[in-house]
Amino acid sequence: MLEYRNVHKSFDAGAGPLPVIKDFTMTIREGEFIVLLGPSGCGKSTLLRITAGLEPTSMGEVLIGGRPPDLRRRHRLGFVFQEPALMPWRDLVSNVTLGLEIRGVPKAERERQAGELLGLLGLKGFERYYPHQVSGGMKHRVAIARAYIVDPIILLMDEPFVALDAQTRESLQRDLQDLWQRRKKTVIFVTHNLEEAILIGTRIVVLSSRPATVLLDCKVELPMPRDPVSREFVALRQELRGLLV
Ligand SMILES: Nc1ncnc2c1ncn2[C@@H]1O[C@H](COP(=O)(O)OP(=O)(O)OP(=O)(O)O)[C@@H](O)[C@H]1O
Ligand SMILES: [Mg+2]
Repeated sequence: MLEYRNVHKSFDAGAGPLPVIKDFTMTIREGEFIVLLGPSGCGKSTLLRITAGLEPTSMGEVLIGGRPPDLRRRHRLGFVFQEPALMPWRDLVSNVTLGLEIRGVPKAERERQAGELLGLLGLKGFERYYPHQVSGGMKHRVAIARAYIVDPIILLMDEPFVALDAQTRESLQRDLQDLWQRRKKTVIFVTHNLEEAILIGTRIVVLSSRPATVLLDCKVELPMPRDPVSREFVALRQELRGLLV
């Protein structure tokens, strides 16, 4: 379980403190797929960094399983950013196995696990390719596998698909959703794309402009895979758009 208790965050940006997050309180259960929406600059990335223990809070606390994020637990957090940032000198399998190497998992076992994940993400047959030999969408799949392989307690995804064309993005959304259905993780996924939010989230949290407060926190009960032209889908999209203008 992930808990935020009255989290405040200000940055000291020269001309006095800049309040970014204001009194953020939320409980996230294991296996929830949270989508975080909010205007640019409202503090979404900051909240992810605080969750990972990469940034301290100014007041309040974050608790993962009842304890603040610490170095040991941080190793069990998965991060996926806009840029896949693969290591060009490693093939796809060796990019995925990195987190297991650090933990001393034997080579055969880590390659088995990486191969399985790459297969689930549609990359069977590409295991020995190098990053420059595959497409942008494929690199993103590798980044997801790399985050997943350490069996993270929480997977933090900061606009992971923003740089992709619409078609590639849709196929990645589907594959991420499939992977998550098979291997449930607690995910916090930041996006600006309302359709994406409703397609993949089990719970959508909308933040206000800075300092961020919660404008909406709603469970999405529609069955998966979701139909973007269904009445409920369209109604929810309208509601979200109304909050984000
Ligand atoms: N290290 C820092 N020092 C000072 N100010 C910072 C720092 N990091 C973030 N900020 C400020 O905090 C605010 C929130 O930034 P953040 O990156 O969390 O926004 P965001 O919601 O992720 O925006 P976007 O949707 O554009 O990615 C911004 O005004 C930014 O300038
Ligand atoms: Mg951001």
